[in-house]
Amino acid sequence: MQMTRNTILITGGTSGIGRGLAEAFHRLGNQVIIAGRRQSRIDEITAANPGMIGFQLDVQDAAAIDAFADRVRKKIPELNVLVNNAGISQSESLTSKPDLAVSRDIIETNIMSVLHITAAFLPMLRAKPQATIITTTSGLAFVPRNNFPTYCATKAFLHSWLQSLRVQLRGASVEVLELAPPYVQTELSGPHQLTDPHAMPLPAFITEVMQLLAAADTPDGEILVERVRGERFAERDGDYARRFWLFNGL
Ligand SMILES: NC(=O)c1ccc[n+]([C@@H]2O[C@H](COP(=O)([O-])OP(=O)(O)OC[C@H]3O[C@@H](n4cnc5c(N)ncnc54)[C@H](OP(=O)(O)O)[C@@H]3O)[C@@H](O)[C@H]2O)c1
Repeated sequence: MQMTRNTILITGGTSGIGRGLAEAFHRLGNQVIIAGRRQSRIDEITAANPGMIGFQLDVQDAAAIDAFADRVRKKIPELNVLVNNAGISQSESLTSKPDLAVSRDIIETNIMSVLHITAAFLPMLRAKPQATIITTTSGLAFVPRNNFPTYCATKAFLHSWLQSLRVQLRGASVEVLELAPPYVQTELSGPHQLTDPHAMPLPAFITEVMQLLAAADTPDGEILVERVRGERFAERDGDYARRFWLFNGL
């Protein structure tokens, strides 16, 4: 993708990876629009990054997505990059009275919102000479952890779905990229993750992602920092069983 002269919408731009990407693209002079539920975060981030725009959006609210897409079409018709990044994660026990509301919540946020937002913005993106859709999946799409069963499965779903989208858009002006992060220091699973020494520091992750994008080093449309490649290619490299056992304390 081109690294400058873009107008970029980032869902889940109010913290962690989304905020990191938003600020990195903003520093390069792109017009960045962040979306999330927390207005206080939107206010703080847009104040810290003059020129950046923020919209409150709950990606679980289908009507709100349609209204939001309408508004962007009218007010920001130059939009040419969509980053589907909003996501949630929660541990679940599948044996002791599973709470299906939790599973549904994860599926709605991580899968249905991506399908809906992509559908809402695709016509607009297809009309541009150069457009990009980046969707955040996870290394856990490739080697699951049993204590996050629905979360890992949603990311595996997205990996599969993105391959189909990429083929259907072959020959069009829309590039389809998958960003599969390793374990990164964000609030995803709670505040403890921000300082977990086993997680990759967020600034290092964002720097490496931006370098890969700038170098167009995205083979098969995948943005893979060094630290996630072991998981991504575990199956191909005959390392799946070892990693699966390691991840799952077996
Ligand atoms: N950190 C990791 O280790 C890791 C690894 C692999 C993949 N990922 C993926 O990276 C993406 C970003 O996560 P993160 O690690 O940066 O965690 P994070 O700091 O918790 O960020 C999650 C973002 O999603 C937004 N979000 C959640 N539910 C939403 C909803 N219903 N409507 C609108 N926005 C919503 C949150 O904004 P509001 O709360 O303001 O709505 C927040 O900005 C996720 O897709 C996650 O699965 C993270």
